[in-house]
Amino acid sequence: MAERRTAEPVALVRDAAVTFAGRQSLLDVIRLRPAPPIRAVDGVSFDVNAGEVLAMVGESGSGKTTTANLLLGLLSPSDGRVMLEGRDLGQLSRRELARMRRRVQMIFQDPYESLNPRMRVFDIVAEPLRVHRVAGSAAEVHTRVREALAEAGMTPVDAYLRRLPFELSGGQRQRVAIAAALALRPRLLVADEPVSMLDVSIRAEILNLLRALADDHGIAVVMITHDLSTVTAYADRIAVMYLGRIVEIGDARTVLDDPQHPYTRALRSVVPVPNPAARRAPQVLSGEMPDPSRIPRGCRFHPRCPLAFDRCLVVDPPLFTVSGEHQAACLLVPGADAGDESAAETETGAEGPGPAGQATP
Ligand SMILES: Nc1ncnc2c1ncn2[C@@H]1O[C@H](COP(=O)(O)OP(=O)(O)OP(=O)(O)O)[C@@H](O)[C@H]1O
Ligand SMILES: [Mg+2]
Repeated sequence: MAERRTAEPVALVRDAAVTFAGRQSLLDVIRLRPAPPIRAVDGVSFDVNAGEVLAMVGESGSGKTTTANLLLGLLSPSDGRVMLEGRDLGQLSRRELARMRRRVQMIFQDPYESLNPRMRVFDIVAEPLRVHRVAGSAAEVHTRVREALAEAGMTPVDAYLRRLPFELSGGQRQRVAIAAALALRPRLLVADEPVSMLDVSIRAEILNLLRALADDHGIAVVMITHDLSTVTAYADRIAVMYLGRIVEIGDARTVLDDPQHPYTRALRSVVPVPNPAARRAPQVLSGEMPDPSRIPRGCRFHPRCPLAFDRCLVVDPPLFTVSGEHQAACLLVPGADAGDESAAETETGAEGPGPAGQATP
């Protein structure tokens, strides 16, 4: 795995929050009160380095796609900041932001929907170059399209240039989508469940391709996934999201072999293990993840936590360092109790405003 780390992270997110306007319930209407805001991302901090693959996991609705949209500059944080290549997206002019957007490319989940069915492979990959007006001459466009397709593993390139999407397999379509992103020579790729629509047999190929792009070109990759069983095969680090926060982050193998947050343990316990002797008793989480307009007071996970104790009802735990880069937002992390002065006793009522920050002691 790549250890190519430059001093400055490609992307840096600090205490970022994204709030959407909520919809009034009937009770809200009767009581003449506004709808509680939806805190889709509620104090998220992380870095992504060049040549690194960061996997982002968490239940549906935990804020993964919203976080991705922050990285893409499609949403601006209502709190906190997002920096790409050392520049705060909130401080950029429109022109600078448009320029920066080339540096961050998205790979979507469904390659059957993301490619225009009437465009040939050549034009699909050339289109972003035209839209962003980056390649001058026709010859230059040609060169970059061919390079991008080769990097995405669509070889021999000539065999594919004139094909239409319906003539390609799902895996080939996703490679073309990746080539279209690569044509702009991005520093960061954000892939939102890029293989979940693909046949199981070809998923590893696409995941390995993204891994190779990080290794060979120093591209930073953020990979959103539901599939914990394959994460260690391609990701350097893993961030576990719950209800708008990162509750555990660290080296992928360390987090999965030695999870510190009860939520990570529960997620891991439902992952199929090939060796029956190592099978773990599934830890079924009670209840559902609450609505992000009603984030519980104290630790947001406490209503579902099998280990919750009295302090969890009032203390909103920041990320505590377990060892090295491994951090978890749980009062049961060894040493957390001693150093949890910064773990604010929150006023996060069911509908009150909550803390946006996520401190690292
Ligand atoms: N534009 C929006 N307006 C209102 N609420 C939104 C909007 N976008 C997202 N949300 C809400 O914010 C929360 C986080 O959504 P998000 O799409 O980031 O979750 P996710 O982790 O990507 O989930 P999934 O695994 O299902 O893709 C959800 O409760 C969602 O309903
Ligand atoms: Mg999503």
